[in-house]
Amino acid sequence: MLQKVKELDIQVEAFVPQSSEELEQFRIQMLGKKGAISQLFTEFKNVPVEQKREFGASLNILKTKAQEKIAQLKQSLEDKNVTSHNLDLSLPADPVKLGSRHPVALVHNEIVDIFARLGFTVFNGPEIEDDWHVFSALNFPPEHPARDMQDTFFVNQKDEVLLRTHTSSVQVRAMEAQKPPIRTIAPGRVYRNEAISARSHCMFHQIEGLYIDKDVSFADLKQTLLYFAKEFFGKDTKIRMRPSYFPFTEPSAEVDVSCSLCGGKGCNVCKYTGYLEILGAGMVDPNVLKASGIDDKIYTGYAFGLGLERIAMLKYGITDIRVLFENDVRFLEQFKSVF
Ligand code: DAH
Repeated sequence: MLQKVKELDIQVEAFVPQSSEELEQFRIQMLGKKGAISQLFTEFKNVPVEQKREFGASLNILKTKAQEKIAQLKQSLEDKNVTSHNLDLSLPADPVKLGSRHPVALVHNEIVDIFARLGFTVFNGPEIEDDWHVFSALNFPPEHPARDMQDTFFVNQKDEVLLRTHTSSVQVRAMEAQKPPIRTIAPGRVYRNEAISARSHCMFHQIEGLYIDKDVSFADLKQTLLYFAKEFFGKDTKIRMRPSYFPFTEPSAEVDVSCSLCGGKGCNVCKYTGYLEILGAGMVDPNVLKASGIDDKIYTGYAFGLGLERIAMLKYGITDIRVLFENDVRFLEQFKSVF
């Protein structure tokens, strides 16, 4: 009898079912009413008294072991069923939603890339500035209206600490920090105390360009800007320079590009002029060179400054500047690019 218990124990130990039907069959075979283990219980009464104790104990152990093993196998077969029947592992995973670049960042990256090809490196300056770098060193007369509280956000008016109103301040920092030849562009945020409307904002972005060397001429400036315009707006783009005034350049010019929407024929974006104004430029005033520690008898240079929002609006046909700062995902996700 004990031998029989041992044999059944080995069978229970070794049993590996392929299916839940096979497992159920095994359960009936072992623990069913007429199963092998149940059979041994009915035979218990025939066991000689002196063996009853040992036989009874091992039979109980066998029964518990078989019950536990069957329960365990049942569970693992159920788990397997879940993975193999209810889950299709060949389905594609949930798509990862990629973000998109902000249109101002796209335009910024493209412009930095174009000027990098001409040897311009990026030079950064602070957004919180002093009067010297934003105005005085740039040849602004003391009574110039741009210094007025109307336009400038002062952080501390007594010490003349302010938010820069243009990135031209970085010109001064670049000249203070480097010796010519200097070829830098300075992208960044600028602030002006202006009413917010579809056309203007109190915070926007500019890129300032500066080139200082011996014998730099207005022709170099014109050719550089023409190259930029063709690279950015397309190879058929033309530029036009109109005389203008900035305290820090002499002579100064406003630069227009032929309208990329109508090709110069005239449309409502260029207001039927065929041209769009995109930047200010000129030859660096000798007073600015002197103020920044550059010998104006040896060196000349040109500078230019452009507004990124304006260029982004022209490029993408955006008619209201405010959408650029509202962070509306429905607007932003339209701009996908590798830049
Ligand atoms: N700083 C000017 C502005 O904010 C833009 C500008 C004009 C920059 C002419 C220049 C320049 O360097 O030469 O409107």
